[in-house]
Amino acid sequence: MSVLIRGGRIVTAADDYVADLYAEDETITLIGESLDLQADRVIDAAGKYVLPGCVDPHTHLDMPFGGTVTIDDVEAGQTAAAFGGTTCHVDFIIQPQGQSFAAAFDEWRAKAAGKQVIDMGYHMAVTDLREGGTLEELATLPEQGVTSYKLFMAYKGALMVDDETLFRTMEVAAQTGALVMVHAENGDAIDVLVKRALAEGRTEPRYHALTRPPETEGEATNRAIQLARVAGAPLYVVHVSCKESVEPIATAREKGWDVWGETCTQYFFIDYDYLERPNFEGAKYVYTPPPRDKANQEVLWNAVRTDVLSAISTDHCAFLWDGQKTMGKDDFSKIPNGGPGLENRLQMIHEFGVRTGRISLNRMVELLATNPAKLFGLYPRKGTIAVGSDADLVVFDPERHVTISAATHHSRSDYNLFEGTEVTGSPEVVLLRGNVLVENDELVASPGIGQFVKRARFGGELKRARAAVAP
Ligand code: URP
Ligand code: ZN
Ligand code: ZN
Repeated sequence: MSVLIRGGRIVTAADDYVADLYAEDETITLIGESLDLQADRVIDAAGKYVLPGCVDPHTHLDMPFGGTVTIDDVEAGQTAAAFGGTTCHVDFIIQPQGQSFAAAFDEWRAKAAGKQVIDMGYHMAVTDLREGGTLEELATLPEQGVTSYKLFMAYKGALMVDDETLFRTMEVAAQTGALVMVHAENGDAIDVLVKRALAEGRTEPRYHALTRPPETEGEATNRAIQLARVAGAPLYVVHVSCKESVEPIATAREKGWDVWGETCTQYFFIDYDYLERPNFEGAKYVYTPPPRDKANQEVLWNAVRTDVLSAISTDHCAFLWDGQKTMGKDDFSKIPNGGPGLENRLQMIHEFGVRTGRISLNRMVELLATNPAKLFGLYPRKGTIAVGSDADLVVFDPERHVTISAATHHSRSDYNLFEGTEVTGSPEVVLLRGNVLVENDELVASPGIGQFVKRARFGGELKRARAAVAP
């Protein structure tokens, strides 16, 4: 199968030029002006952007959480991703307590069997190093292409680990070349605040935010940075939501430490006030860390512009409002935490980042595709447009008007975080390894086309990058 994309404006993290692009056997083989070639499929991209397929480094598909299971399985979540121009994502395997990492890996692979629409890799969320997986087993995961370990510093009584588990995992990562990811919130302090609020009869969704103050995120972010420093491990802080967490990351990066951070689409747009919406509507915005005071939104735009934060993910963790979120009608702590977002990241960041002049088109590509691919061992196969890279491509129409809505999205969730938002600019054709996935608002490929991607170790990438700039 060969594809020729004619006359598009090719935009990568570094470049912006008009050219033809030819892909054969799933790989980009030629980029040039007026290519005189035949192809099985020719796509006219005049007036359109040709972007690398976006890479989402943070999703939760088919995941048991908060007394239920996320509503999007691999097929539903990846279909939503494909429509939004995301062609590869890294999902979280959650080690069930008492189980080995191998058993958890097999369980997550089985969930994806025959259902994959896009390519995917996995992070391993470590929950138990006492009864379940061992440090020795953890050290073997990078050989299987699972090159990042995730630790939850919150969700006491469920996924939260103690500092010993966090630190020992960091020490393993320092040896194996894996990247350590943290959900940084002080789970012990939050647990005290949640119990007190409930004892005082404070049960509404807004108490989700009021019991998780930004200082608890700042403290845990700083603790993780300092512990990673002692262990000698690289650190990636997920879903940064506020100034209190941005600041320690900025300081660490200024010092040249191996610390990176991401934020998620929703933190730029949804603030604390959404949690106060009447008739339990506020529960739609119960995700963690919670929506913050509006002032944090400009802090986050500034952080992604200046590379204090290096990636934007979705933290897609979709539930139904009616039937799942409503489990917490009388107790905010029983509302499953998470929201849908896989489909709308590119549209939202293009509209409110690029079209408003906050970030450049190149920087958008870097935040949504190139940096996630580099940080998570997928680059240069994914995350850019270059000869030899996978032909994961988005033909993006910068003039197309779309109104975002749950009525038309592809997640199974019954609501959309950005309901009613009007954007100009949306994917028109999406290709995975040279195969057309989405065209004319239809999914034209069958589930099963997506593959598991073994990711490279983080340490190797870092060493190569350092060697390249060494005097
Ligand atoms: O509320 C959230 N973010 N749910 C998903 C799990 C996590 O903490 O990332
Ligand atoms: Zn988290
Ligand atoms: Zn998450």
